[in-house]
Amino acid sequence: MKAVVYQGPRKVAVKDVAEPAIQAPTDAIVRLTTTNICGSDLHMYEGRTSVEEGKILGHENMGIVEAVGAGTDRVKVGDRVSVPFNIACGSCRNCESGWTSFCLRTNPIEGMDGAAYGYANMGPYDGGQAELLRVPYADFNLLELPQGTEHENDFTMLSDIFPTGWHGTELARMQPGDKVVVFGAGPVGLMAAHSAMIRGAAEVFVVDKAKDRLDLAGKIGATPVDFSKADPAQQILDATGGRGADCGVEAVGYQAHDGTGQEHPELVLDNLVKSVRSTGGIGVVGVYVPEDPGATSDLAKEGRIAFQYGTFFSKGQHMGTGQAPVKRYNRRLRDLIIAGRAQPSFLVSHELPLSQAAEGYERFDKREAGWTKVLLKP
Ligand SMILES: NC(=O)c1ccc[n+]([C@@H]2O[C@H](COP(=O)([O-])OP(=O)(O)OC[C@H]3O[C@@H](n4cnc5c(N)ncnc54)[C@H](O)[C@@H]3O)[C@@H](O)[C@H]2O)c1
Ligand SMILES: [Zn+2]
Ligand SMILES: [Zn+2]
Repeated sequence: MKAVVYQGPRKVAVKDVAEPAIQAPTDAIVRLTTTNICGSDLHMYEGRTSVEEGKILGHENMGIVEAVGAGTDRVKVGDRVSVPFNIACGSCRNCESGWTSFCLRTNPIEGMDGAAYGYANMGPYDGGQAELLRVPYADFNLLELPQGTEHENDFTMLSDIFPTGWHGTELARMQPGDKVVVFGAGPVGLMAAHSAMIRGAAEVFVVDKAKDRLDLAGKIGATPVDFSKADPAQQILDATGGRGADCGVEAVGYQAHDGTGQEHPELVLDNLVKSVRSTGGIGVVGVYVPEDPGATSDLAKEGRIAFQYGTFFSKGQHMGTGQAPVKRYNRRLRDLIIAGRAQPSFLVSHELPLSQAAEGYERFDKREAGWTKVLLKP
């Protein structure tokens, strides 16, 4: 079968690889109908992770069940399913309490809890930017979707970014009526903004410098804030009578940069501490890594981020972090899509065949105008 394979910094190629097979009775094989390129894939694409060459990428997957192992009795061949990016066993202590993103059993790397498809440090699992994908613990992990092809481009956001954006607002302990600031108008930030509006925010500010992305934020009713024009935290303070937003979401990650493109991994955390009011919450879903050899400072190379912790403490703020436990939210978010209350496909800019994956990566990585979210259609 064909699959998107990592070949070194800024190089991916569609290669012929062996088809996946059922390895355990609890496995299923899914034939992909849609598989998205994610901002998280770009950390690997840019050579900023330890992912090995030859890895099949892709963790935002959906499709039709092609085969099931003998121990699988809920999921059936022919089912249309969304595949959460977390690979979870369903029976460990963290899975049992809903933290499938920190499954204690599926990642064999010592000290790393939580596994994913096609991702650096997240276990030996192949990704789904391919024709077929092996899904461990299929009965537990797979979310059933209505048969047919309706809502395909909405449902494809259920594997990662819609639940991740929602999780950002949850970690920030957002309440209805809150003013919410979201840093990053990439796919995750836009999903956090969409989630905040569905959850009854009074106002949502979205900070970025990419005009096309800010325009999209404006289109869904958020207030765009351009950080290249003026200090974004000051802009939020000015817009909230000096008080600050009630809570905030970090949807940028460790490659945060200033208006000139220079990286400052602490920049967005500092801006959140400044622009969220005292006692407010900050949900960090943008990715930070334990080691970043490509970082610009020695501290950051060791994964140490020197943000305004003193002000954070003085303001009595709280912060939640980490990979999103997709299963905690995806069933309800699916039903919001079916009910017409959520339409996460608004950010889809490109639908490409798998054969054009390299072009999709290159142009999404450059944040070329109009390349907000790329879906691959194997
Ligand atoms: N926690 C999770 O489960 C999870 C899941 C998916 C993605 N992520 C992470 O979320 C982050 C965002 O993902 P994405 O797909 O939206 O990526 P993306 O790279 O497309 O979007 C990031 C956006 O941040 C903007 N940005 C950069 N510096 C900024 C600054 N100083 N202030 C405001 N905006 C700034 C960029 O212009 C860009 O539009 C990534 O770190 C990704 O790895 C986390
Ligand atoms: Zn993703
Ligand atoms: Zn588990």
